[in-house]
Amino acid sequence: MIQTQIIILDFGSQYTQLLARRIRENQVLAEVLDHRILAAKMTDYPNLKGIILSGGPSSVYEEKSYKIDPAFFDLNLPILGVCYGMQLITNLFGGKVELADNQEFGKAKLFLDNQSNKLFKGVPDKKLVWMSHADHLTKMPPEFIQLAHSDSSVAAIMHKSKEIYGIQFHAEVTHSEYGGTMIKNFVFDICKAEANWEVSSFINQTVDLIKDKVKQDEVILGLSGGVDSSVAAALISKAIGSQLTCIFVDTGLLRKDEAKKVLKTYQDNFNMKIKMVDASKQFYQALKGVTDPEEKRKIIGREFVEVFNSEAKKMKQAKWLAQGTIYPDVIESSSPDHASKTIKSHHNVGGLPEEMGLKLLEPIRDLFKDEVRKVGLALGIPEVMINRHPFPGPGLGIRIIGEVTKEKADILREVDDVFINELWKAGLYNQVDQAFAVLLPVKTVGVMGDNRTYDYLASIRSVNTIDFMTATISHLPWDFIENVVSLIINNVDHVNRVVYDITSKPPGTIEWE
Ligand code: XMP
Repeated sequence: MIQTQIIILDFGSQYTQLLARRIRENQVLAEVLDHRILAAKMTDYPNLKGIILSGGPSSVYEEKSYKIDPAFFDLNLPILGVCYGMQLITNLFGGKVELADNQEFGKAKLFLDNQSNKLFKGVPDKKLVWMSHADHLTKMPPEFIQLAHSDSSVAAIMHKSKEIYGIQFHAEVTHSEYGGTMIKNFVFDICKAEANWEVSSFINQTVDLIKDKVKQDEVILGLSGGVDSSVAAALISKAIGSQLTCIFVDTGLLRKDEAKKVLKTYQDNFNMKIKMVDASKQFYQALKGVTDPEEKRKIIGREFVEVFNSEAKKMKQAKWLAQGTIYPDVIESSSPDHASKTIKSHHNVGGLPEEMGLKLLEPIRDLFKDEVRKVGLALGIPEVMINRHPFPGPGLGIRIIGEVTKEKADILREVDDVFINELWKAGLYNQVDQAFAVLLPVKTVGVMGDNRTYDYLASIRSVNTIDFMTATISHLPWDFIENVVSLIINNVDHVNRVVYDITSKPPGTIEWE
């Protein structure tokens, strides 16, 4: 069995799992562990080649800041500290970290002070890297040297005689030019890891793990038609076959004809038990008069639990609730005791099994979207299903700004359908990563024929992203956008104006709520 070669200690950065996946991209298995773990536990990892200390939101000079077991530095393994990780190393080895006057958030130019260093092999001078720090190094620890700097901070350091490195920037995000090269250099040239991990290893290991956990129990899974739940279902089905029952809930917040389309695709391609439940009235009723995004998310989540609960009760043998939770869901809705900060509470993470009396099965929890797609293709899921844009659990509920009603959901379904169909027709669907429409609680004046109109405003949004943690807007041709807008206004009743959202993430999120 292939074993973990790199351990990443998590100090709460939004990017910690991104480090793990950058390493997996190089066919090396990396595992993320809580920063409180003791170095002595590393004996559980006989194939371990190196340690990475992630970034994190705290400040090393604060009393309550996250610490590392100093014995990690006696393991004789290469260590790389990233952002907070570098500051932690600085602090531990007698240097100084302080709040910076010139805080760096975003792109910064990286000047190499030691071009022959192994970490920077193949990395040209003066490249742009992604910075996100308020603190910076103000005194070099005595046994360290500076490897690189930016306009306002020490950007990379190295121990004079040991393989201990620190970088202030986030090499793991795609905005860091040559970031992938630096990670590769650390993994292969410094840690001497071996490339031996691939998608099929993930599938085999996960199938074994599921069999082992579930045994003879029955499992229920909420199928949404999206990539994540499909891949989770296919993996579980591969492991335990007919012990799995999928439940498809029509929340009334789905895309046009979604229930019909999903059922047909699954019946044509898989031999899975699927139960359709129309709960739309229940959802509209629960959402009546509610406008706060977080409250809407919670209500939708709660109704989901209720629907599942009543279905689960009918399945006396069901002991497990399976979900297609993926890593960005986990990190962006992490609980207060997790080191990173909550951005949005995704309804489909955490909390459910306790209320339902079911155990939670989340086989793709550590993967990013593009990895999920690779796993899905390897499992034989049809490409059109795999390449579908993600659709959030709360569905149109978070794309109808303000109060959700059936009337508004019907309007939005039509707007969305026109946009998505046109993307397909123009051959653009697969060139963007997520496209959708949003309905605003705003009416504007227009003129159609010779008549004044006073109707809803819709927005269309399309983004390009690799991992959904950051995103840029899709540069769709203006002619295309113009055509879509005119088709929407001419064909969808009650919408008389459409805008195109050009906000990137950050500072925006992909969804509007
Ligand atoms: P944001 O809006 O946080 O979205 O930038 C990142 C990705 O996550 C999707 N998303 C969700 N997916 N349940 C989900 O399953 C949710 O509650 C949820 N909220 C956002 C979003 O569509 C995008 O792909």
